[in-house]
Amino acid sequence: MKAALEEARKGWGRTHPQPMIGAVLVENKEIVATACMEQPSSTALEIRLFEGLGRKPKSDAALFLTLEPGASSNRLDAGVRAIVESGIKYVLIGASDPVAENANKGADALKEAGVKVERRILIEECEDLNLVSNFWLQNRVPIFAAKSATTLDGKIACRTGESKWITGEQARQNVMKWRRLFPSIAVGAGTLVDDDPRLTARIEGEPEWCGVRFVFDGLLRTAMERYLPSMYTDDFRDNTIVVTTDAAGTGYIRRLETEGVNVWVLPVENMKVPFPVFRKKCADVGITGVYFEGGSRLVSELLHTRELNYHFNYRAPILMGDDKAKSVYRGLRTEKLSQAIRLEKVRQEIFGDDQLMRGFVSYPARLDVDETVFSNG
Ligand SMILES: NC(=O)c1ccc[n+]([C@@H]2O[C@H](COP(=O)([O-])OP(=O)(O)OC[C@H]3O[C@@H](n4cnc5c(N)ncnc54)[C@H](OP(=O)(O)O)[C@@H]3O)[C@@H](O)[C@H]2O)c1
Repeated sequence: MKAALEEARKGWGRTHPQPMIGAVLVENKEIVATACMEQPSSTALEIRLFEGLGRKPKSDAALFLTLEPGASSNRLDAGVRAIVESGIKYVLIGASDPVAENANKGADALKEAGVKVERRILIEECEDLNLVSNFWLQNRVPIFAAKSATTLDGKIACRTGESKWITGEQARQNVMKWRRLFPSIAVGAGTLVDDDPRLTARIEGEPEWCGVRFVFDGLLRTAMERYLPSMYTDDFRDNTIVVTTDAAGTGYIRRLETEGVNVWVLPVENMKVPFPVFRKKCADVGITGVYFEGGSRLVSELLHTRELNYHFNYRAPILMGDDKAKSVYRGLRTEKLSQAIRLEKVRQEIFGDDQLMRGFVSYPARLDVDETVFSNG
């Protein structure tokens, strides 16, 4: 199954809105055929696997699939039929279909046809592989994930504002991998003005890649600068979408559109870009996930409004111990541990001296927001 997972990862970031899937056919303890989703495809993966093999599998053949056949598609019959017609008698499956009403249908259909099926092989890895598409298939809206790179005491900048770099090269390279997975990235106006990021995925051996880049800017202050930020002028500027409110000046909207930058004007009541409206609009245009890269205010607001679904926290072995150093998450009054936000389905990885902890955000029944924290910006 590890080999099937490796095969699946060849489609990293390229299969949206469909999941990544890997398949490996083993005969006499040797891999004889592999297949993966490399892009959204209308042909069942199992069919392509057998076409690649070019003959009938041998009688001892075992098929490893990271996801059950036909999962989350209308191709249940095609995938299952291909396996049954191949004569394979043994199939090992990682994850079930993420949509509850479809779960186990493919595996059960194989069993009914007389195939021996083993399920839940490396299930955690197989489910984790598709955290973006699973959320999409289950909810039909994009997953909102945030990344932060902090010190041991949760700080993202010194009291002077110095913030580069908290984590090391290996952790920053891992961020590039996630940028490549998510179909879109978002930052707040503060980060754009302070850091002027490019938000592209720069991975060794691959061309620079740019997904949709969102900037949250309620009043278009990023368009007021004499020199516009790189994301409004570089070669990928038509991938940039500035998300603003109907309180923004039309002159600034025109300035951005003249540069070739897209602008989404969302109706608001309080000058803040409303996350639910933004999420719905992303769903309407088929964006299955948004990777928020800060800053502190934007991701804090996502938490306050219970809109953040997933969190990536890279922690460096640095300690500031300074109350005036900037924290990533602010603005909550957490009086009891039972009121604390937790991560679930936690996964941890080490990059050099840094640690990544990531997981789904689980909110307590009660969440008290300290309205004074962001009241003066
Ligand atoms: N270490 C890390 O992981 C990391 C990552 C990224 C950034 N950073 C640091 O974070 C700092 C910037 O953070 P920041 O808090 O000053 O700014 P920010 O979160 O990047 O941007 C906040 C601004 O976004 C706009 N906005 C629009 N809609 C919003 C909404 N619904 N909710 C919240 N904000 C919305 C607001 O501007 P308007 O009111 O004008 O609309 C708000 O002031 C930088 O210094 C950067 O270096 C650190």
